[in-house]
Amino acid sequence: MTETPESRAGVTDVDLSGTTALVTGSTSGIGREAALSLGRLGADVLVHGRDETAGNEVVDELVDAGSDARFVEADFASIEDVNALAETVRTETSELDVLLNNAGGLFRTGRLTDAGVEYTFHVNHLAPYLLTTNLLGHLAPDARVVTTASEAHRGAQPNWDAVTSVDDYSTFGAYSRSKLANIQFSIELAHRLDAADDEITSNALHPGAIPGSGFARFLPGPIPRAMQLLDGLPFVTSVDDGAAALVNLAASDRLEGVSGRYFDQQQIRTPSSAALDPDSQHDLWTRSAEFLDIDVPLSEASTQG
Ligand SMILES: NC(=O)c1ccc[n+]([C@@H]2O[C@H](COP(=O)([O-])OP(=O)(O)OC[C@H]3O[C@@H](n4cnc5c(N)ncnc54)[C@H](OP(=O)(O)O)[C@@H]3O)[C@@H](O)[C@H]2O)c1
Repeated sequence: MTETPESRAGVTDVDLSGTTALVTGSTSGIGREAALSLGRLGADVLVHGRDETAGNEVVDELVDAGSDARFVEADFASIEDVNALAETVRTETSELDVLLNNAGGLFRTGRLTDAGVEYTFHVNHLAPYLLTTNLLGHLAPDARVVTTASEAHRGAQPNWDAVTSVDDYSTFGAYSRSKLANIQFSIELAHRLDAADDEITSNALHPGAIPGSGFARFLPGPIPRAMQLLDGLPFVTSVDDGAAALVNLAASDRLEGVSGRYFDQQQIRTPSSAALDPDSQHDLWTRSAEFLDIDVPLSEASTQG
């Protein structure tokens, strides 16, 4: 029998009929395979990315599998696009049961976005922060928010100068910092939801080292091709196994109520001490709102009354 992400996650008996999932970054890689898997389990799926052709191919496969699917285009470097994506979700679905914050990548050249923020940090962290907090009122009471981080976070410490300047830009430095932010965001969200007596869960994960996805495509010269050649070797993770890690967090009954955790593929793992620092998590949450010029979401003031 062919192995699928849902069989690798042990959730083939889960029925997601009547639920809706948004999978960001599902035009390619692990997001694509996770979106298809959730569709096979019965979910209606919103496919997201910038590549409309690739997005519509995923939608066609989902529709063939019986899912009510559509593609929504949004560039995560644009605040306007992310807000428009949230608005589309609000107007076209009754509520959202699964939000997979998966879009992201490794970017060769340093530049600042219109928000004055380094591009990698903006796309990989600020955009999912904005999308999630914008959609909070539209999430089902038992919704699951899952954020794709990386073991690359272990090399990073918060550095606000590097988030607002590209003078000393390093591709891997910027990537690691953004993935540290993914974990801190996910844990801080879990704490704030819990403090508001909300049952929505929030977890982050490392999906594995996956050379077979489109991950390296923005890197120079022969690197993307060399990465693809590693695909299939025993010490690397397949795209389906990476997708299984996402599907596990989105659908497994075993994880009901589990929140504020970091997973290495399908196992709970302790992230770096920087990721677990509560002051730093709080700082990231409030500074992210400042960058976006929005009220601090799930603050004591916003949850009172
Ligand atoms: N591959 C690995 O080894 C690895 C390891 C650890 C963590 N991760 C994480 O896993 C996630 C998925 O990556 P992948 O490996 O599956 O790579 P991928 O095949 O390149 O997929 C990345 C997805 O993100 C979307 N995306 C990238 N930039 C975007 C932007 N500016 N606006 C909107 N969407 C954007 C892409 O869509 P469009 O091209 O259509 O815009 C694509 O659907 C990422 O968060 C990555 O950091 C990957």
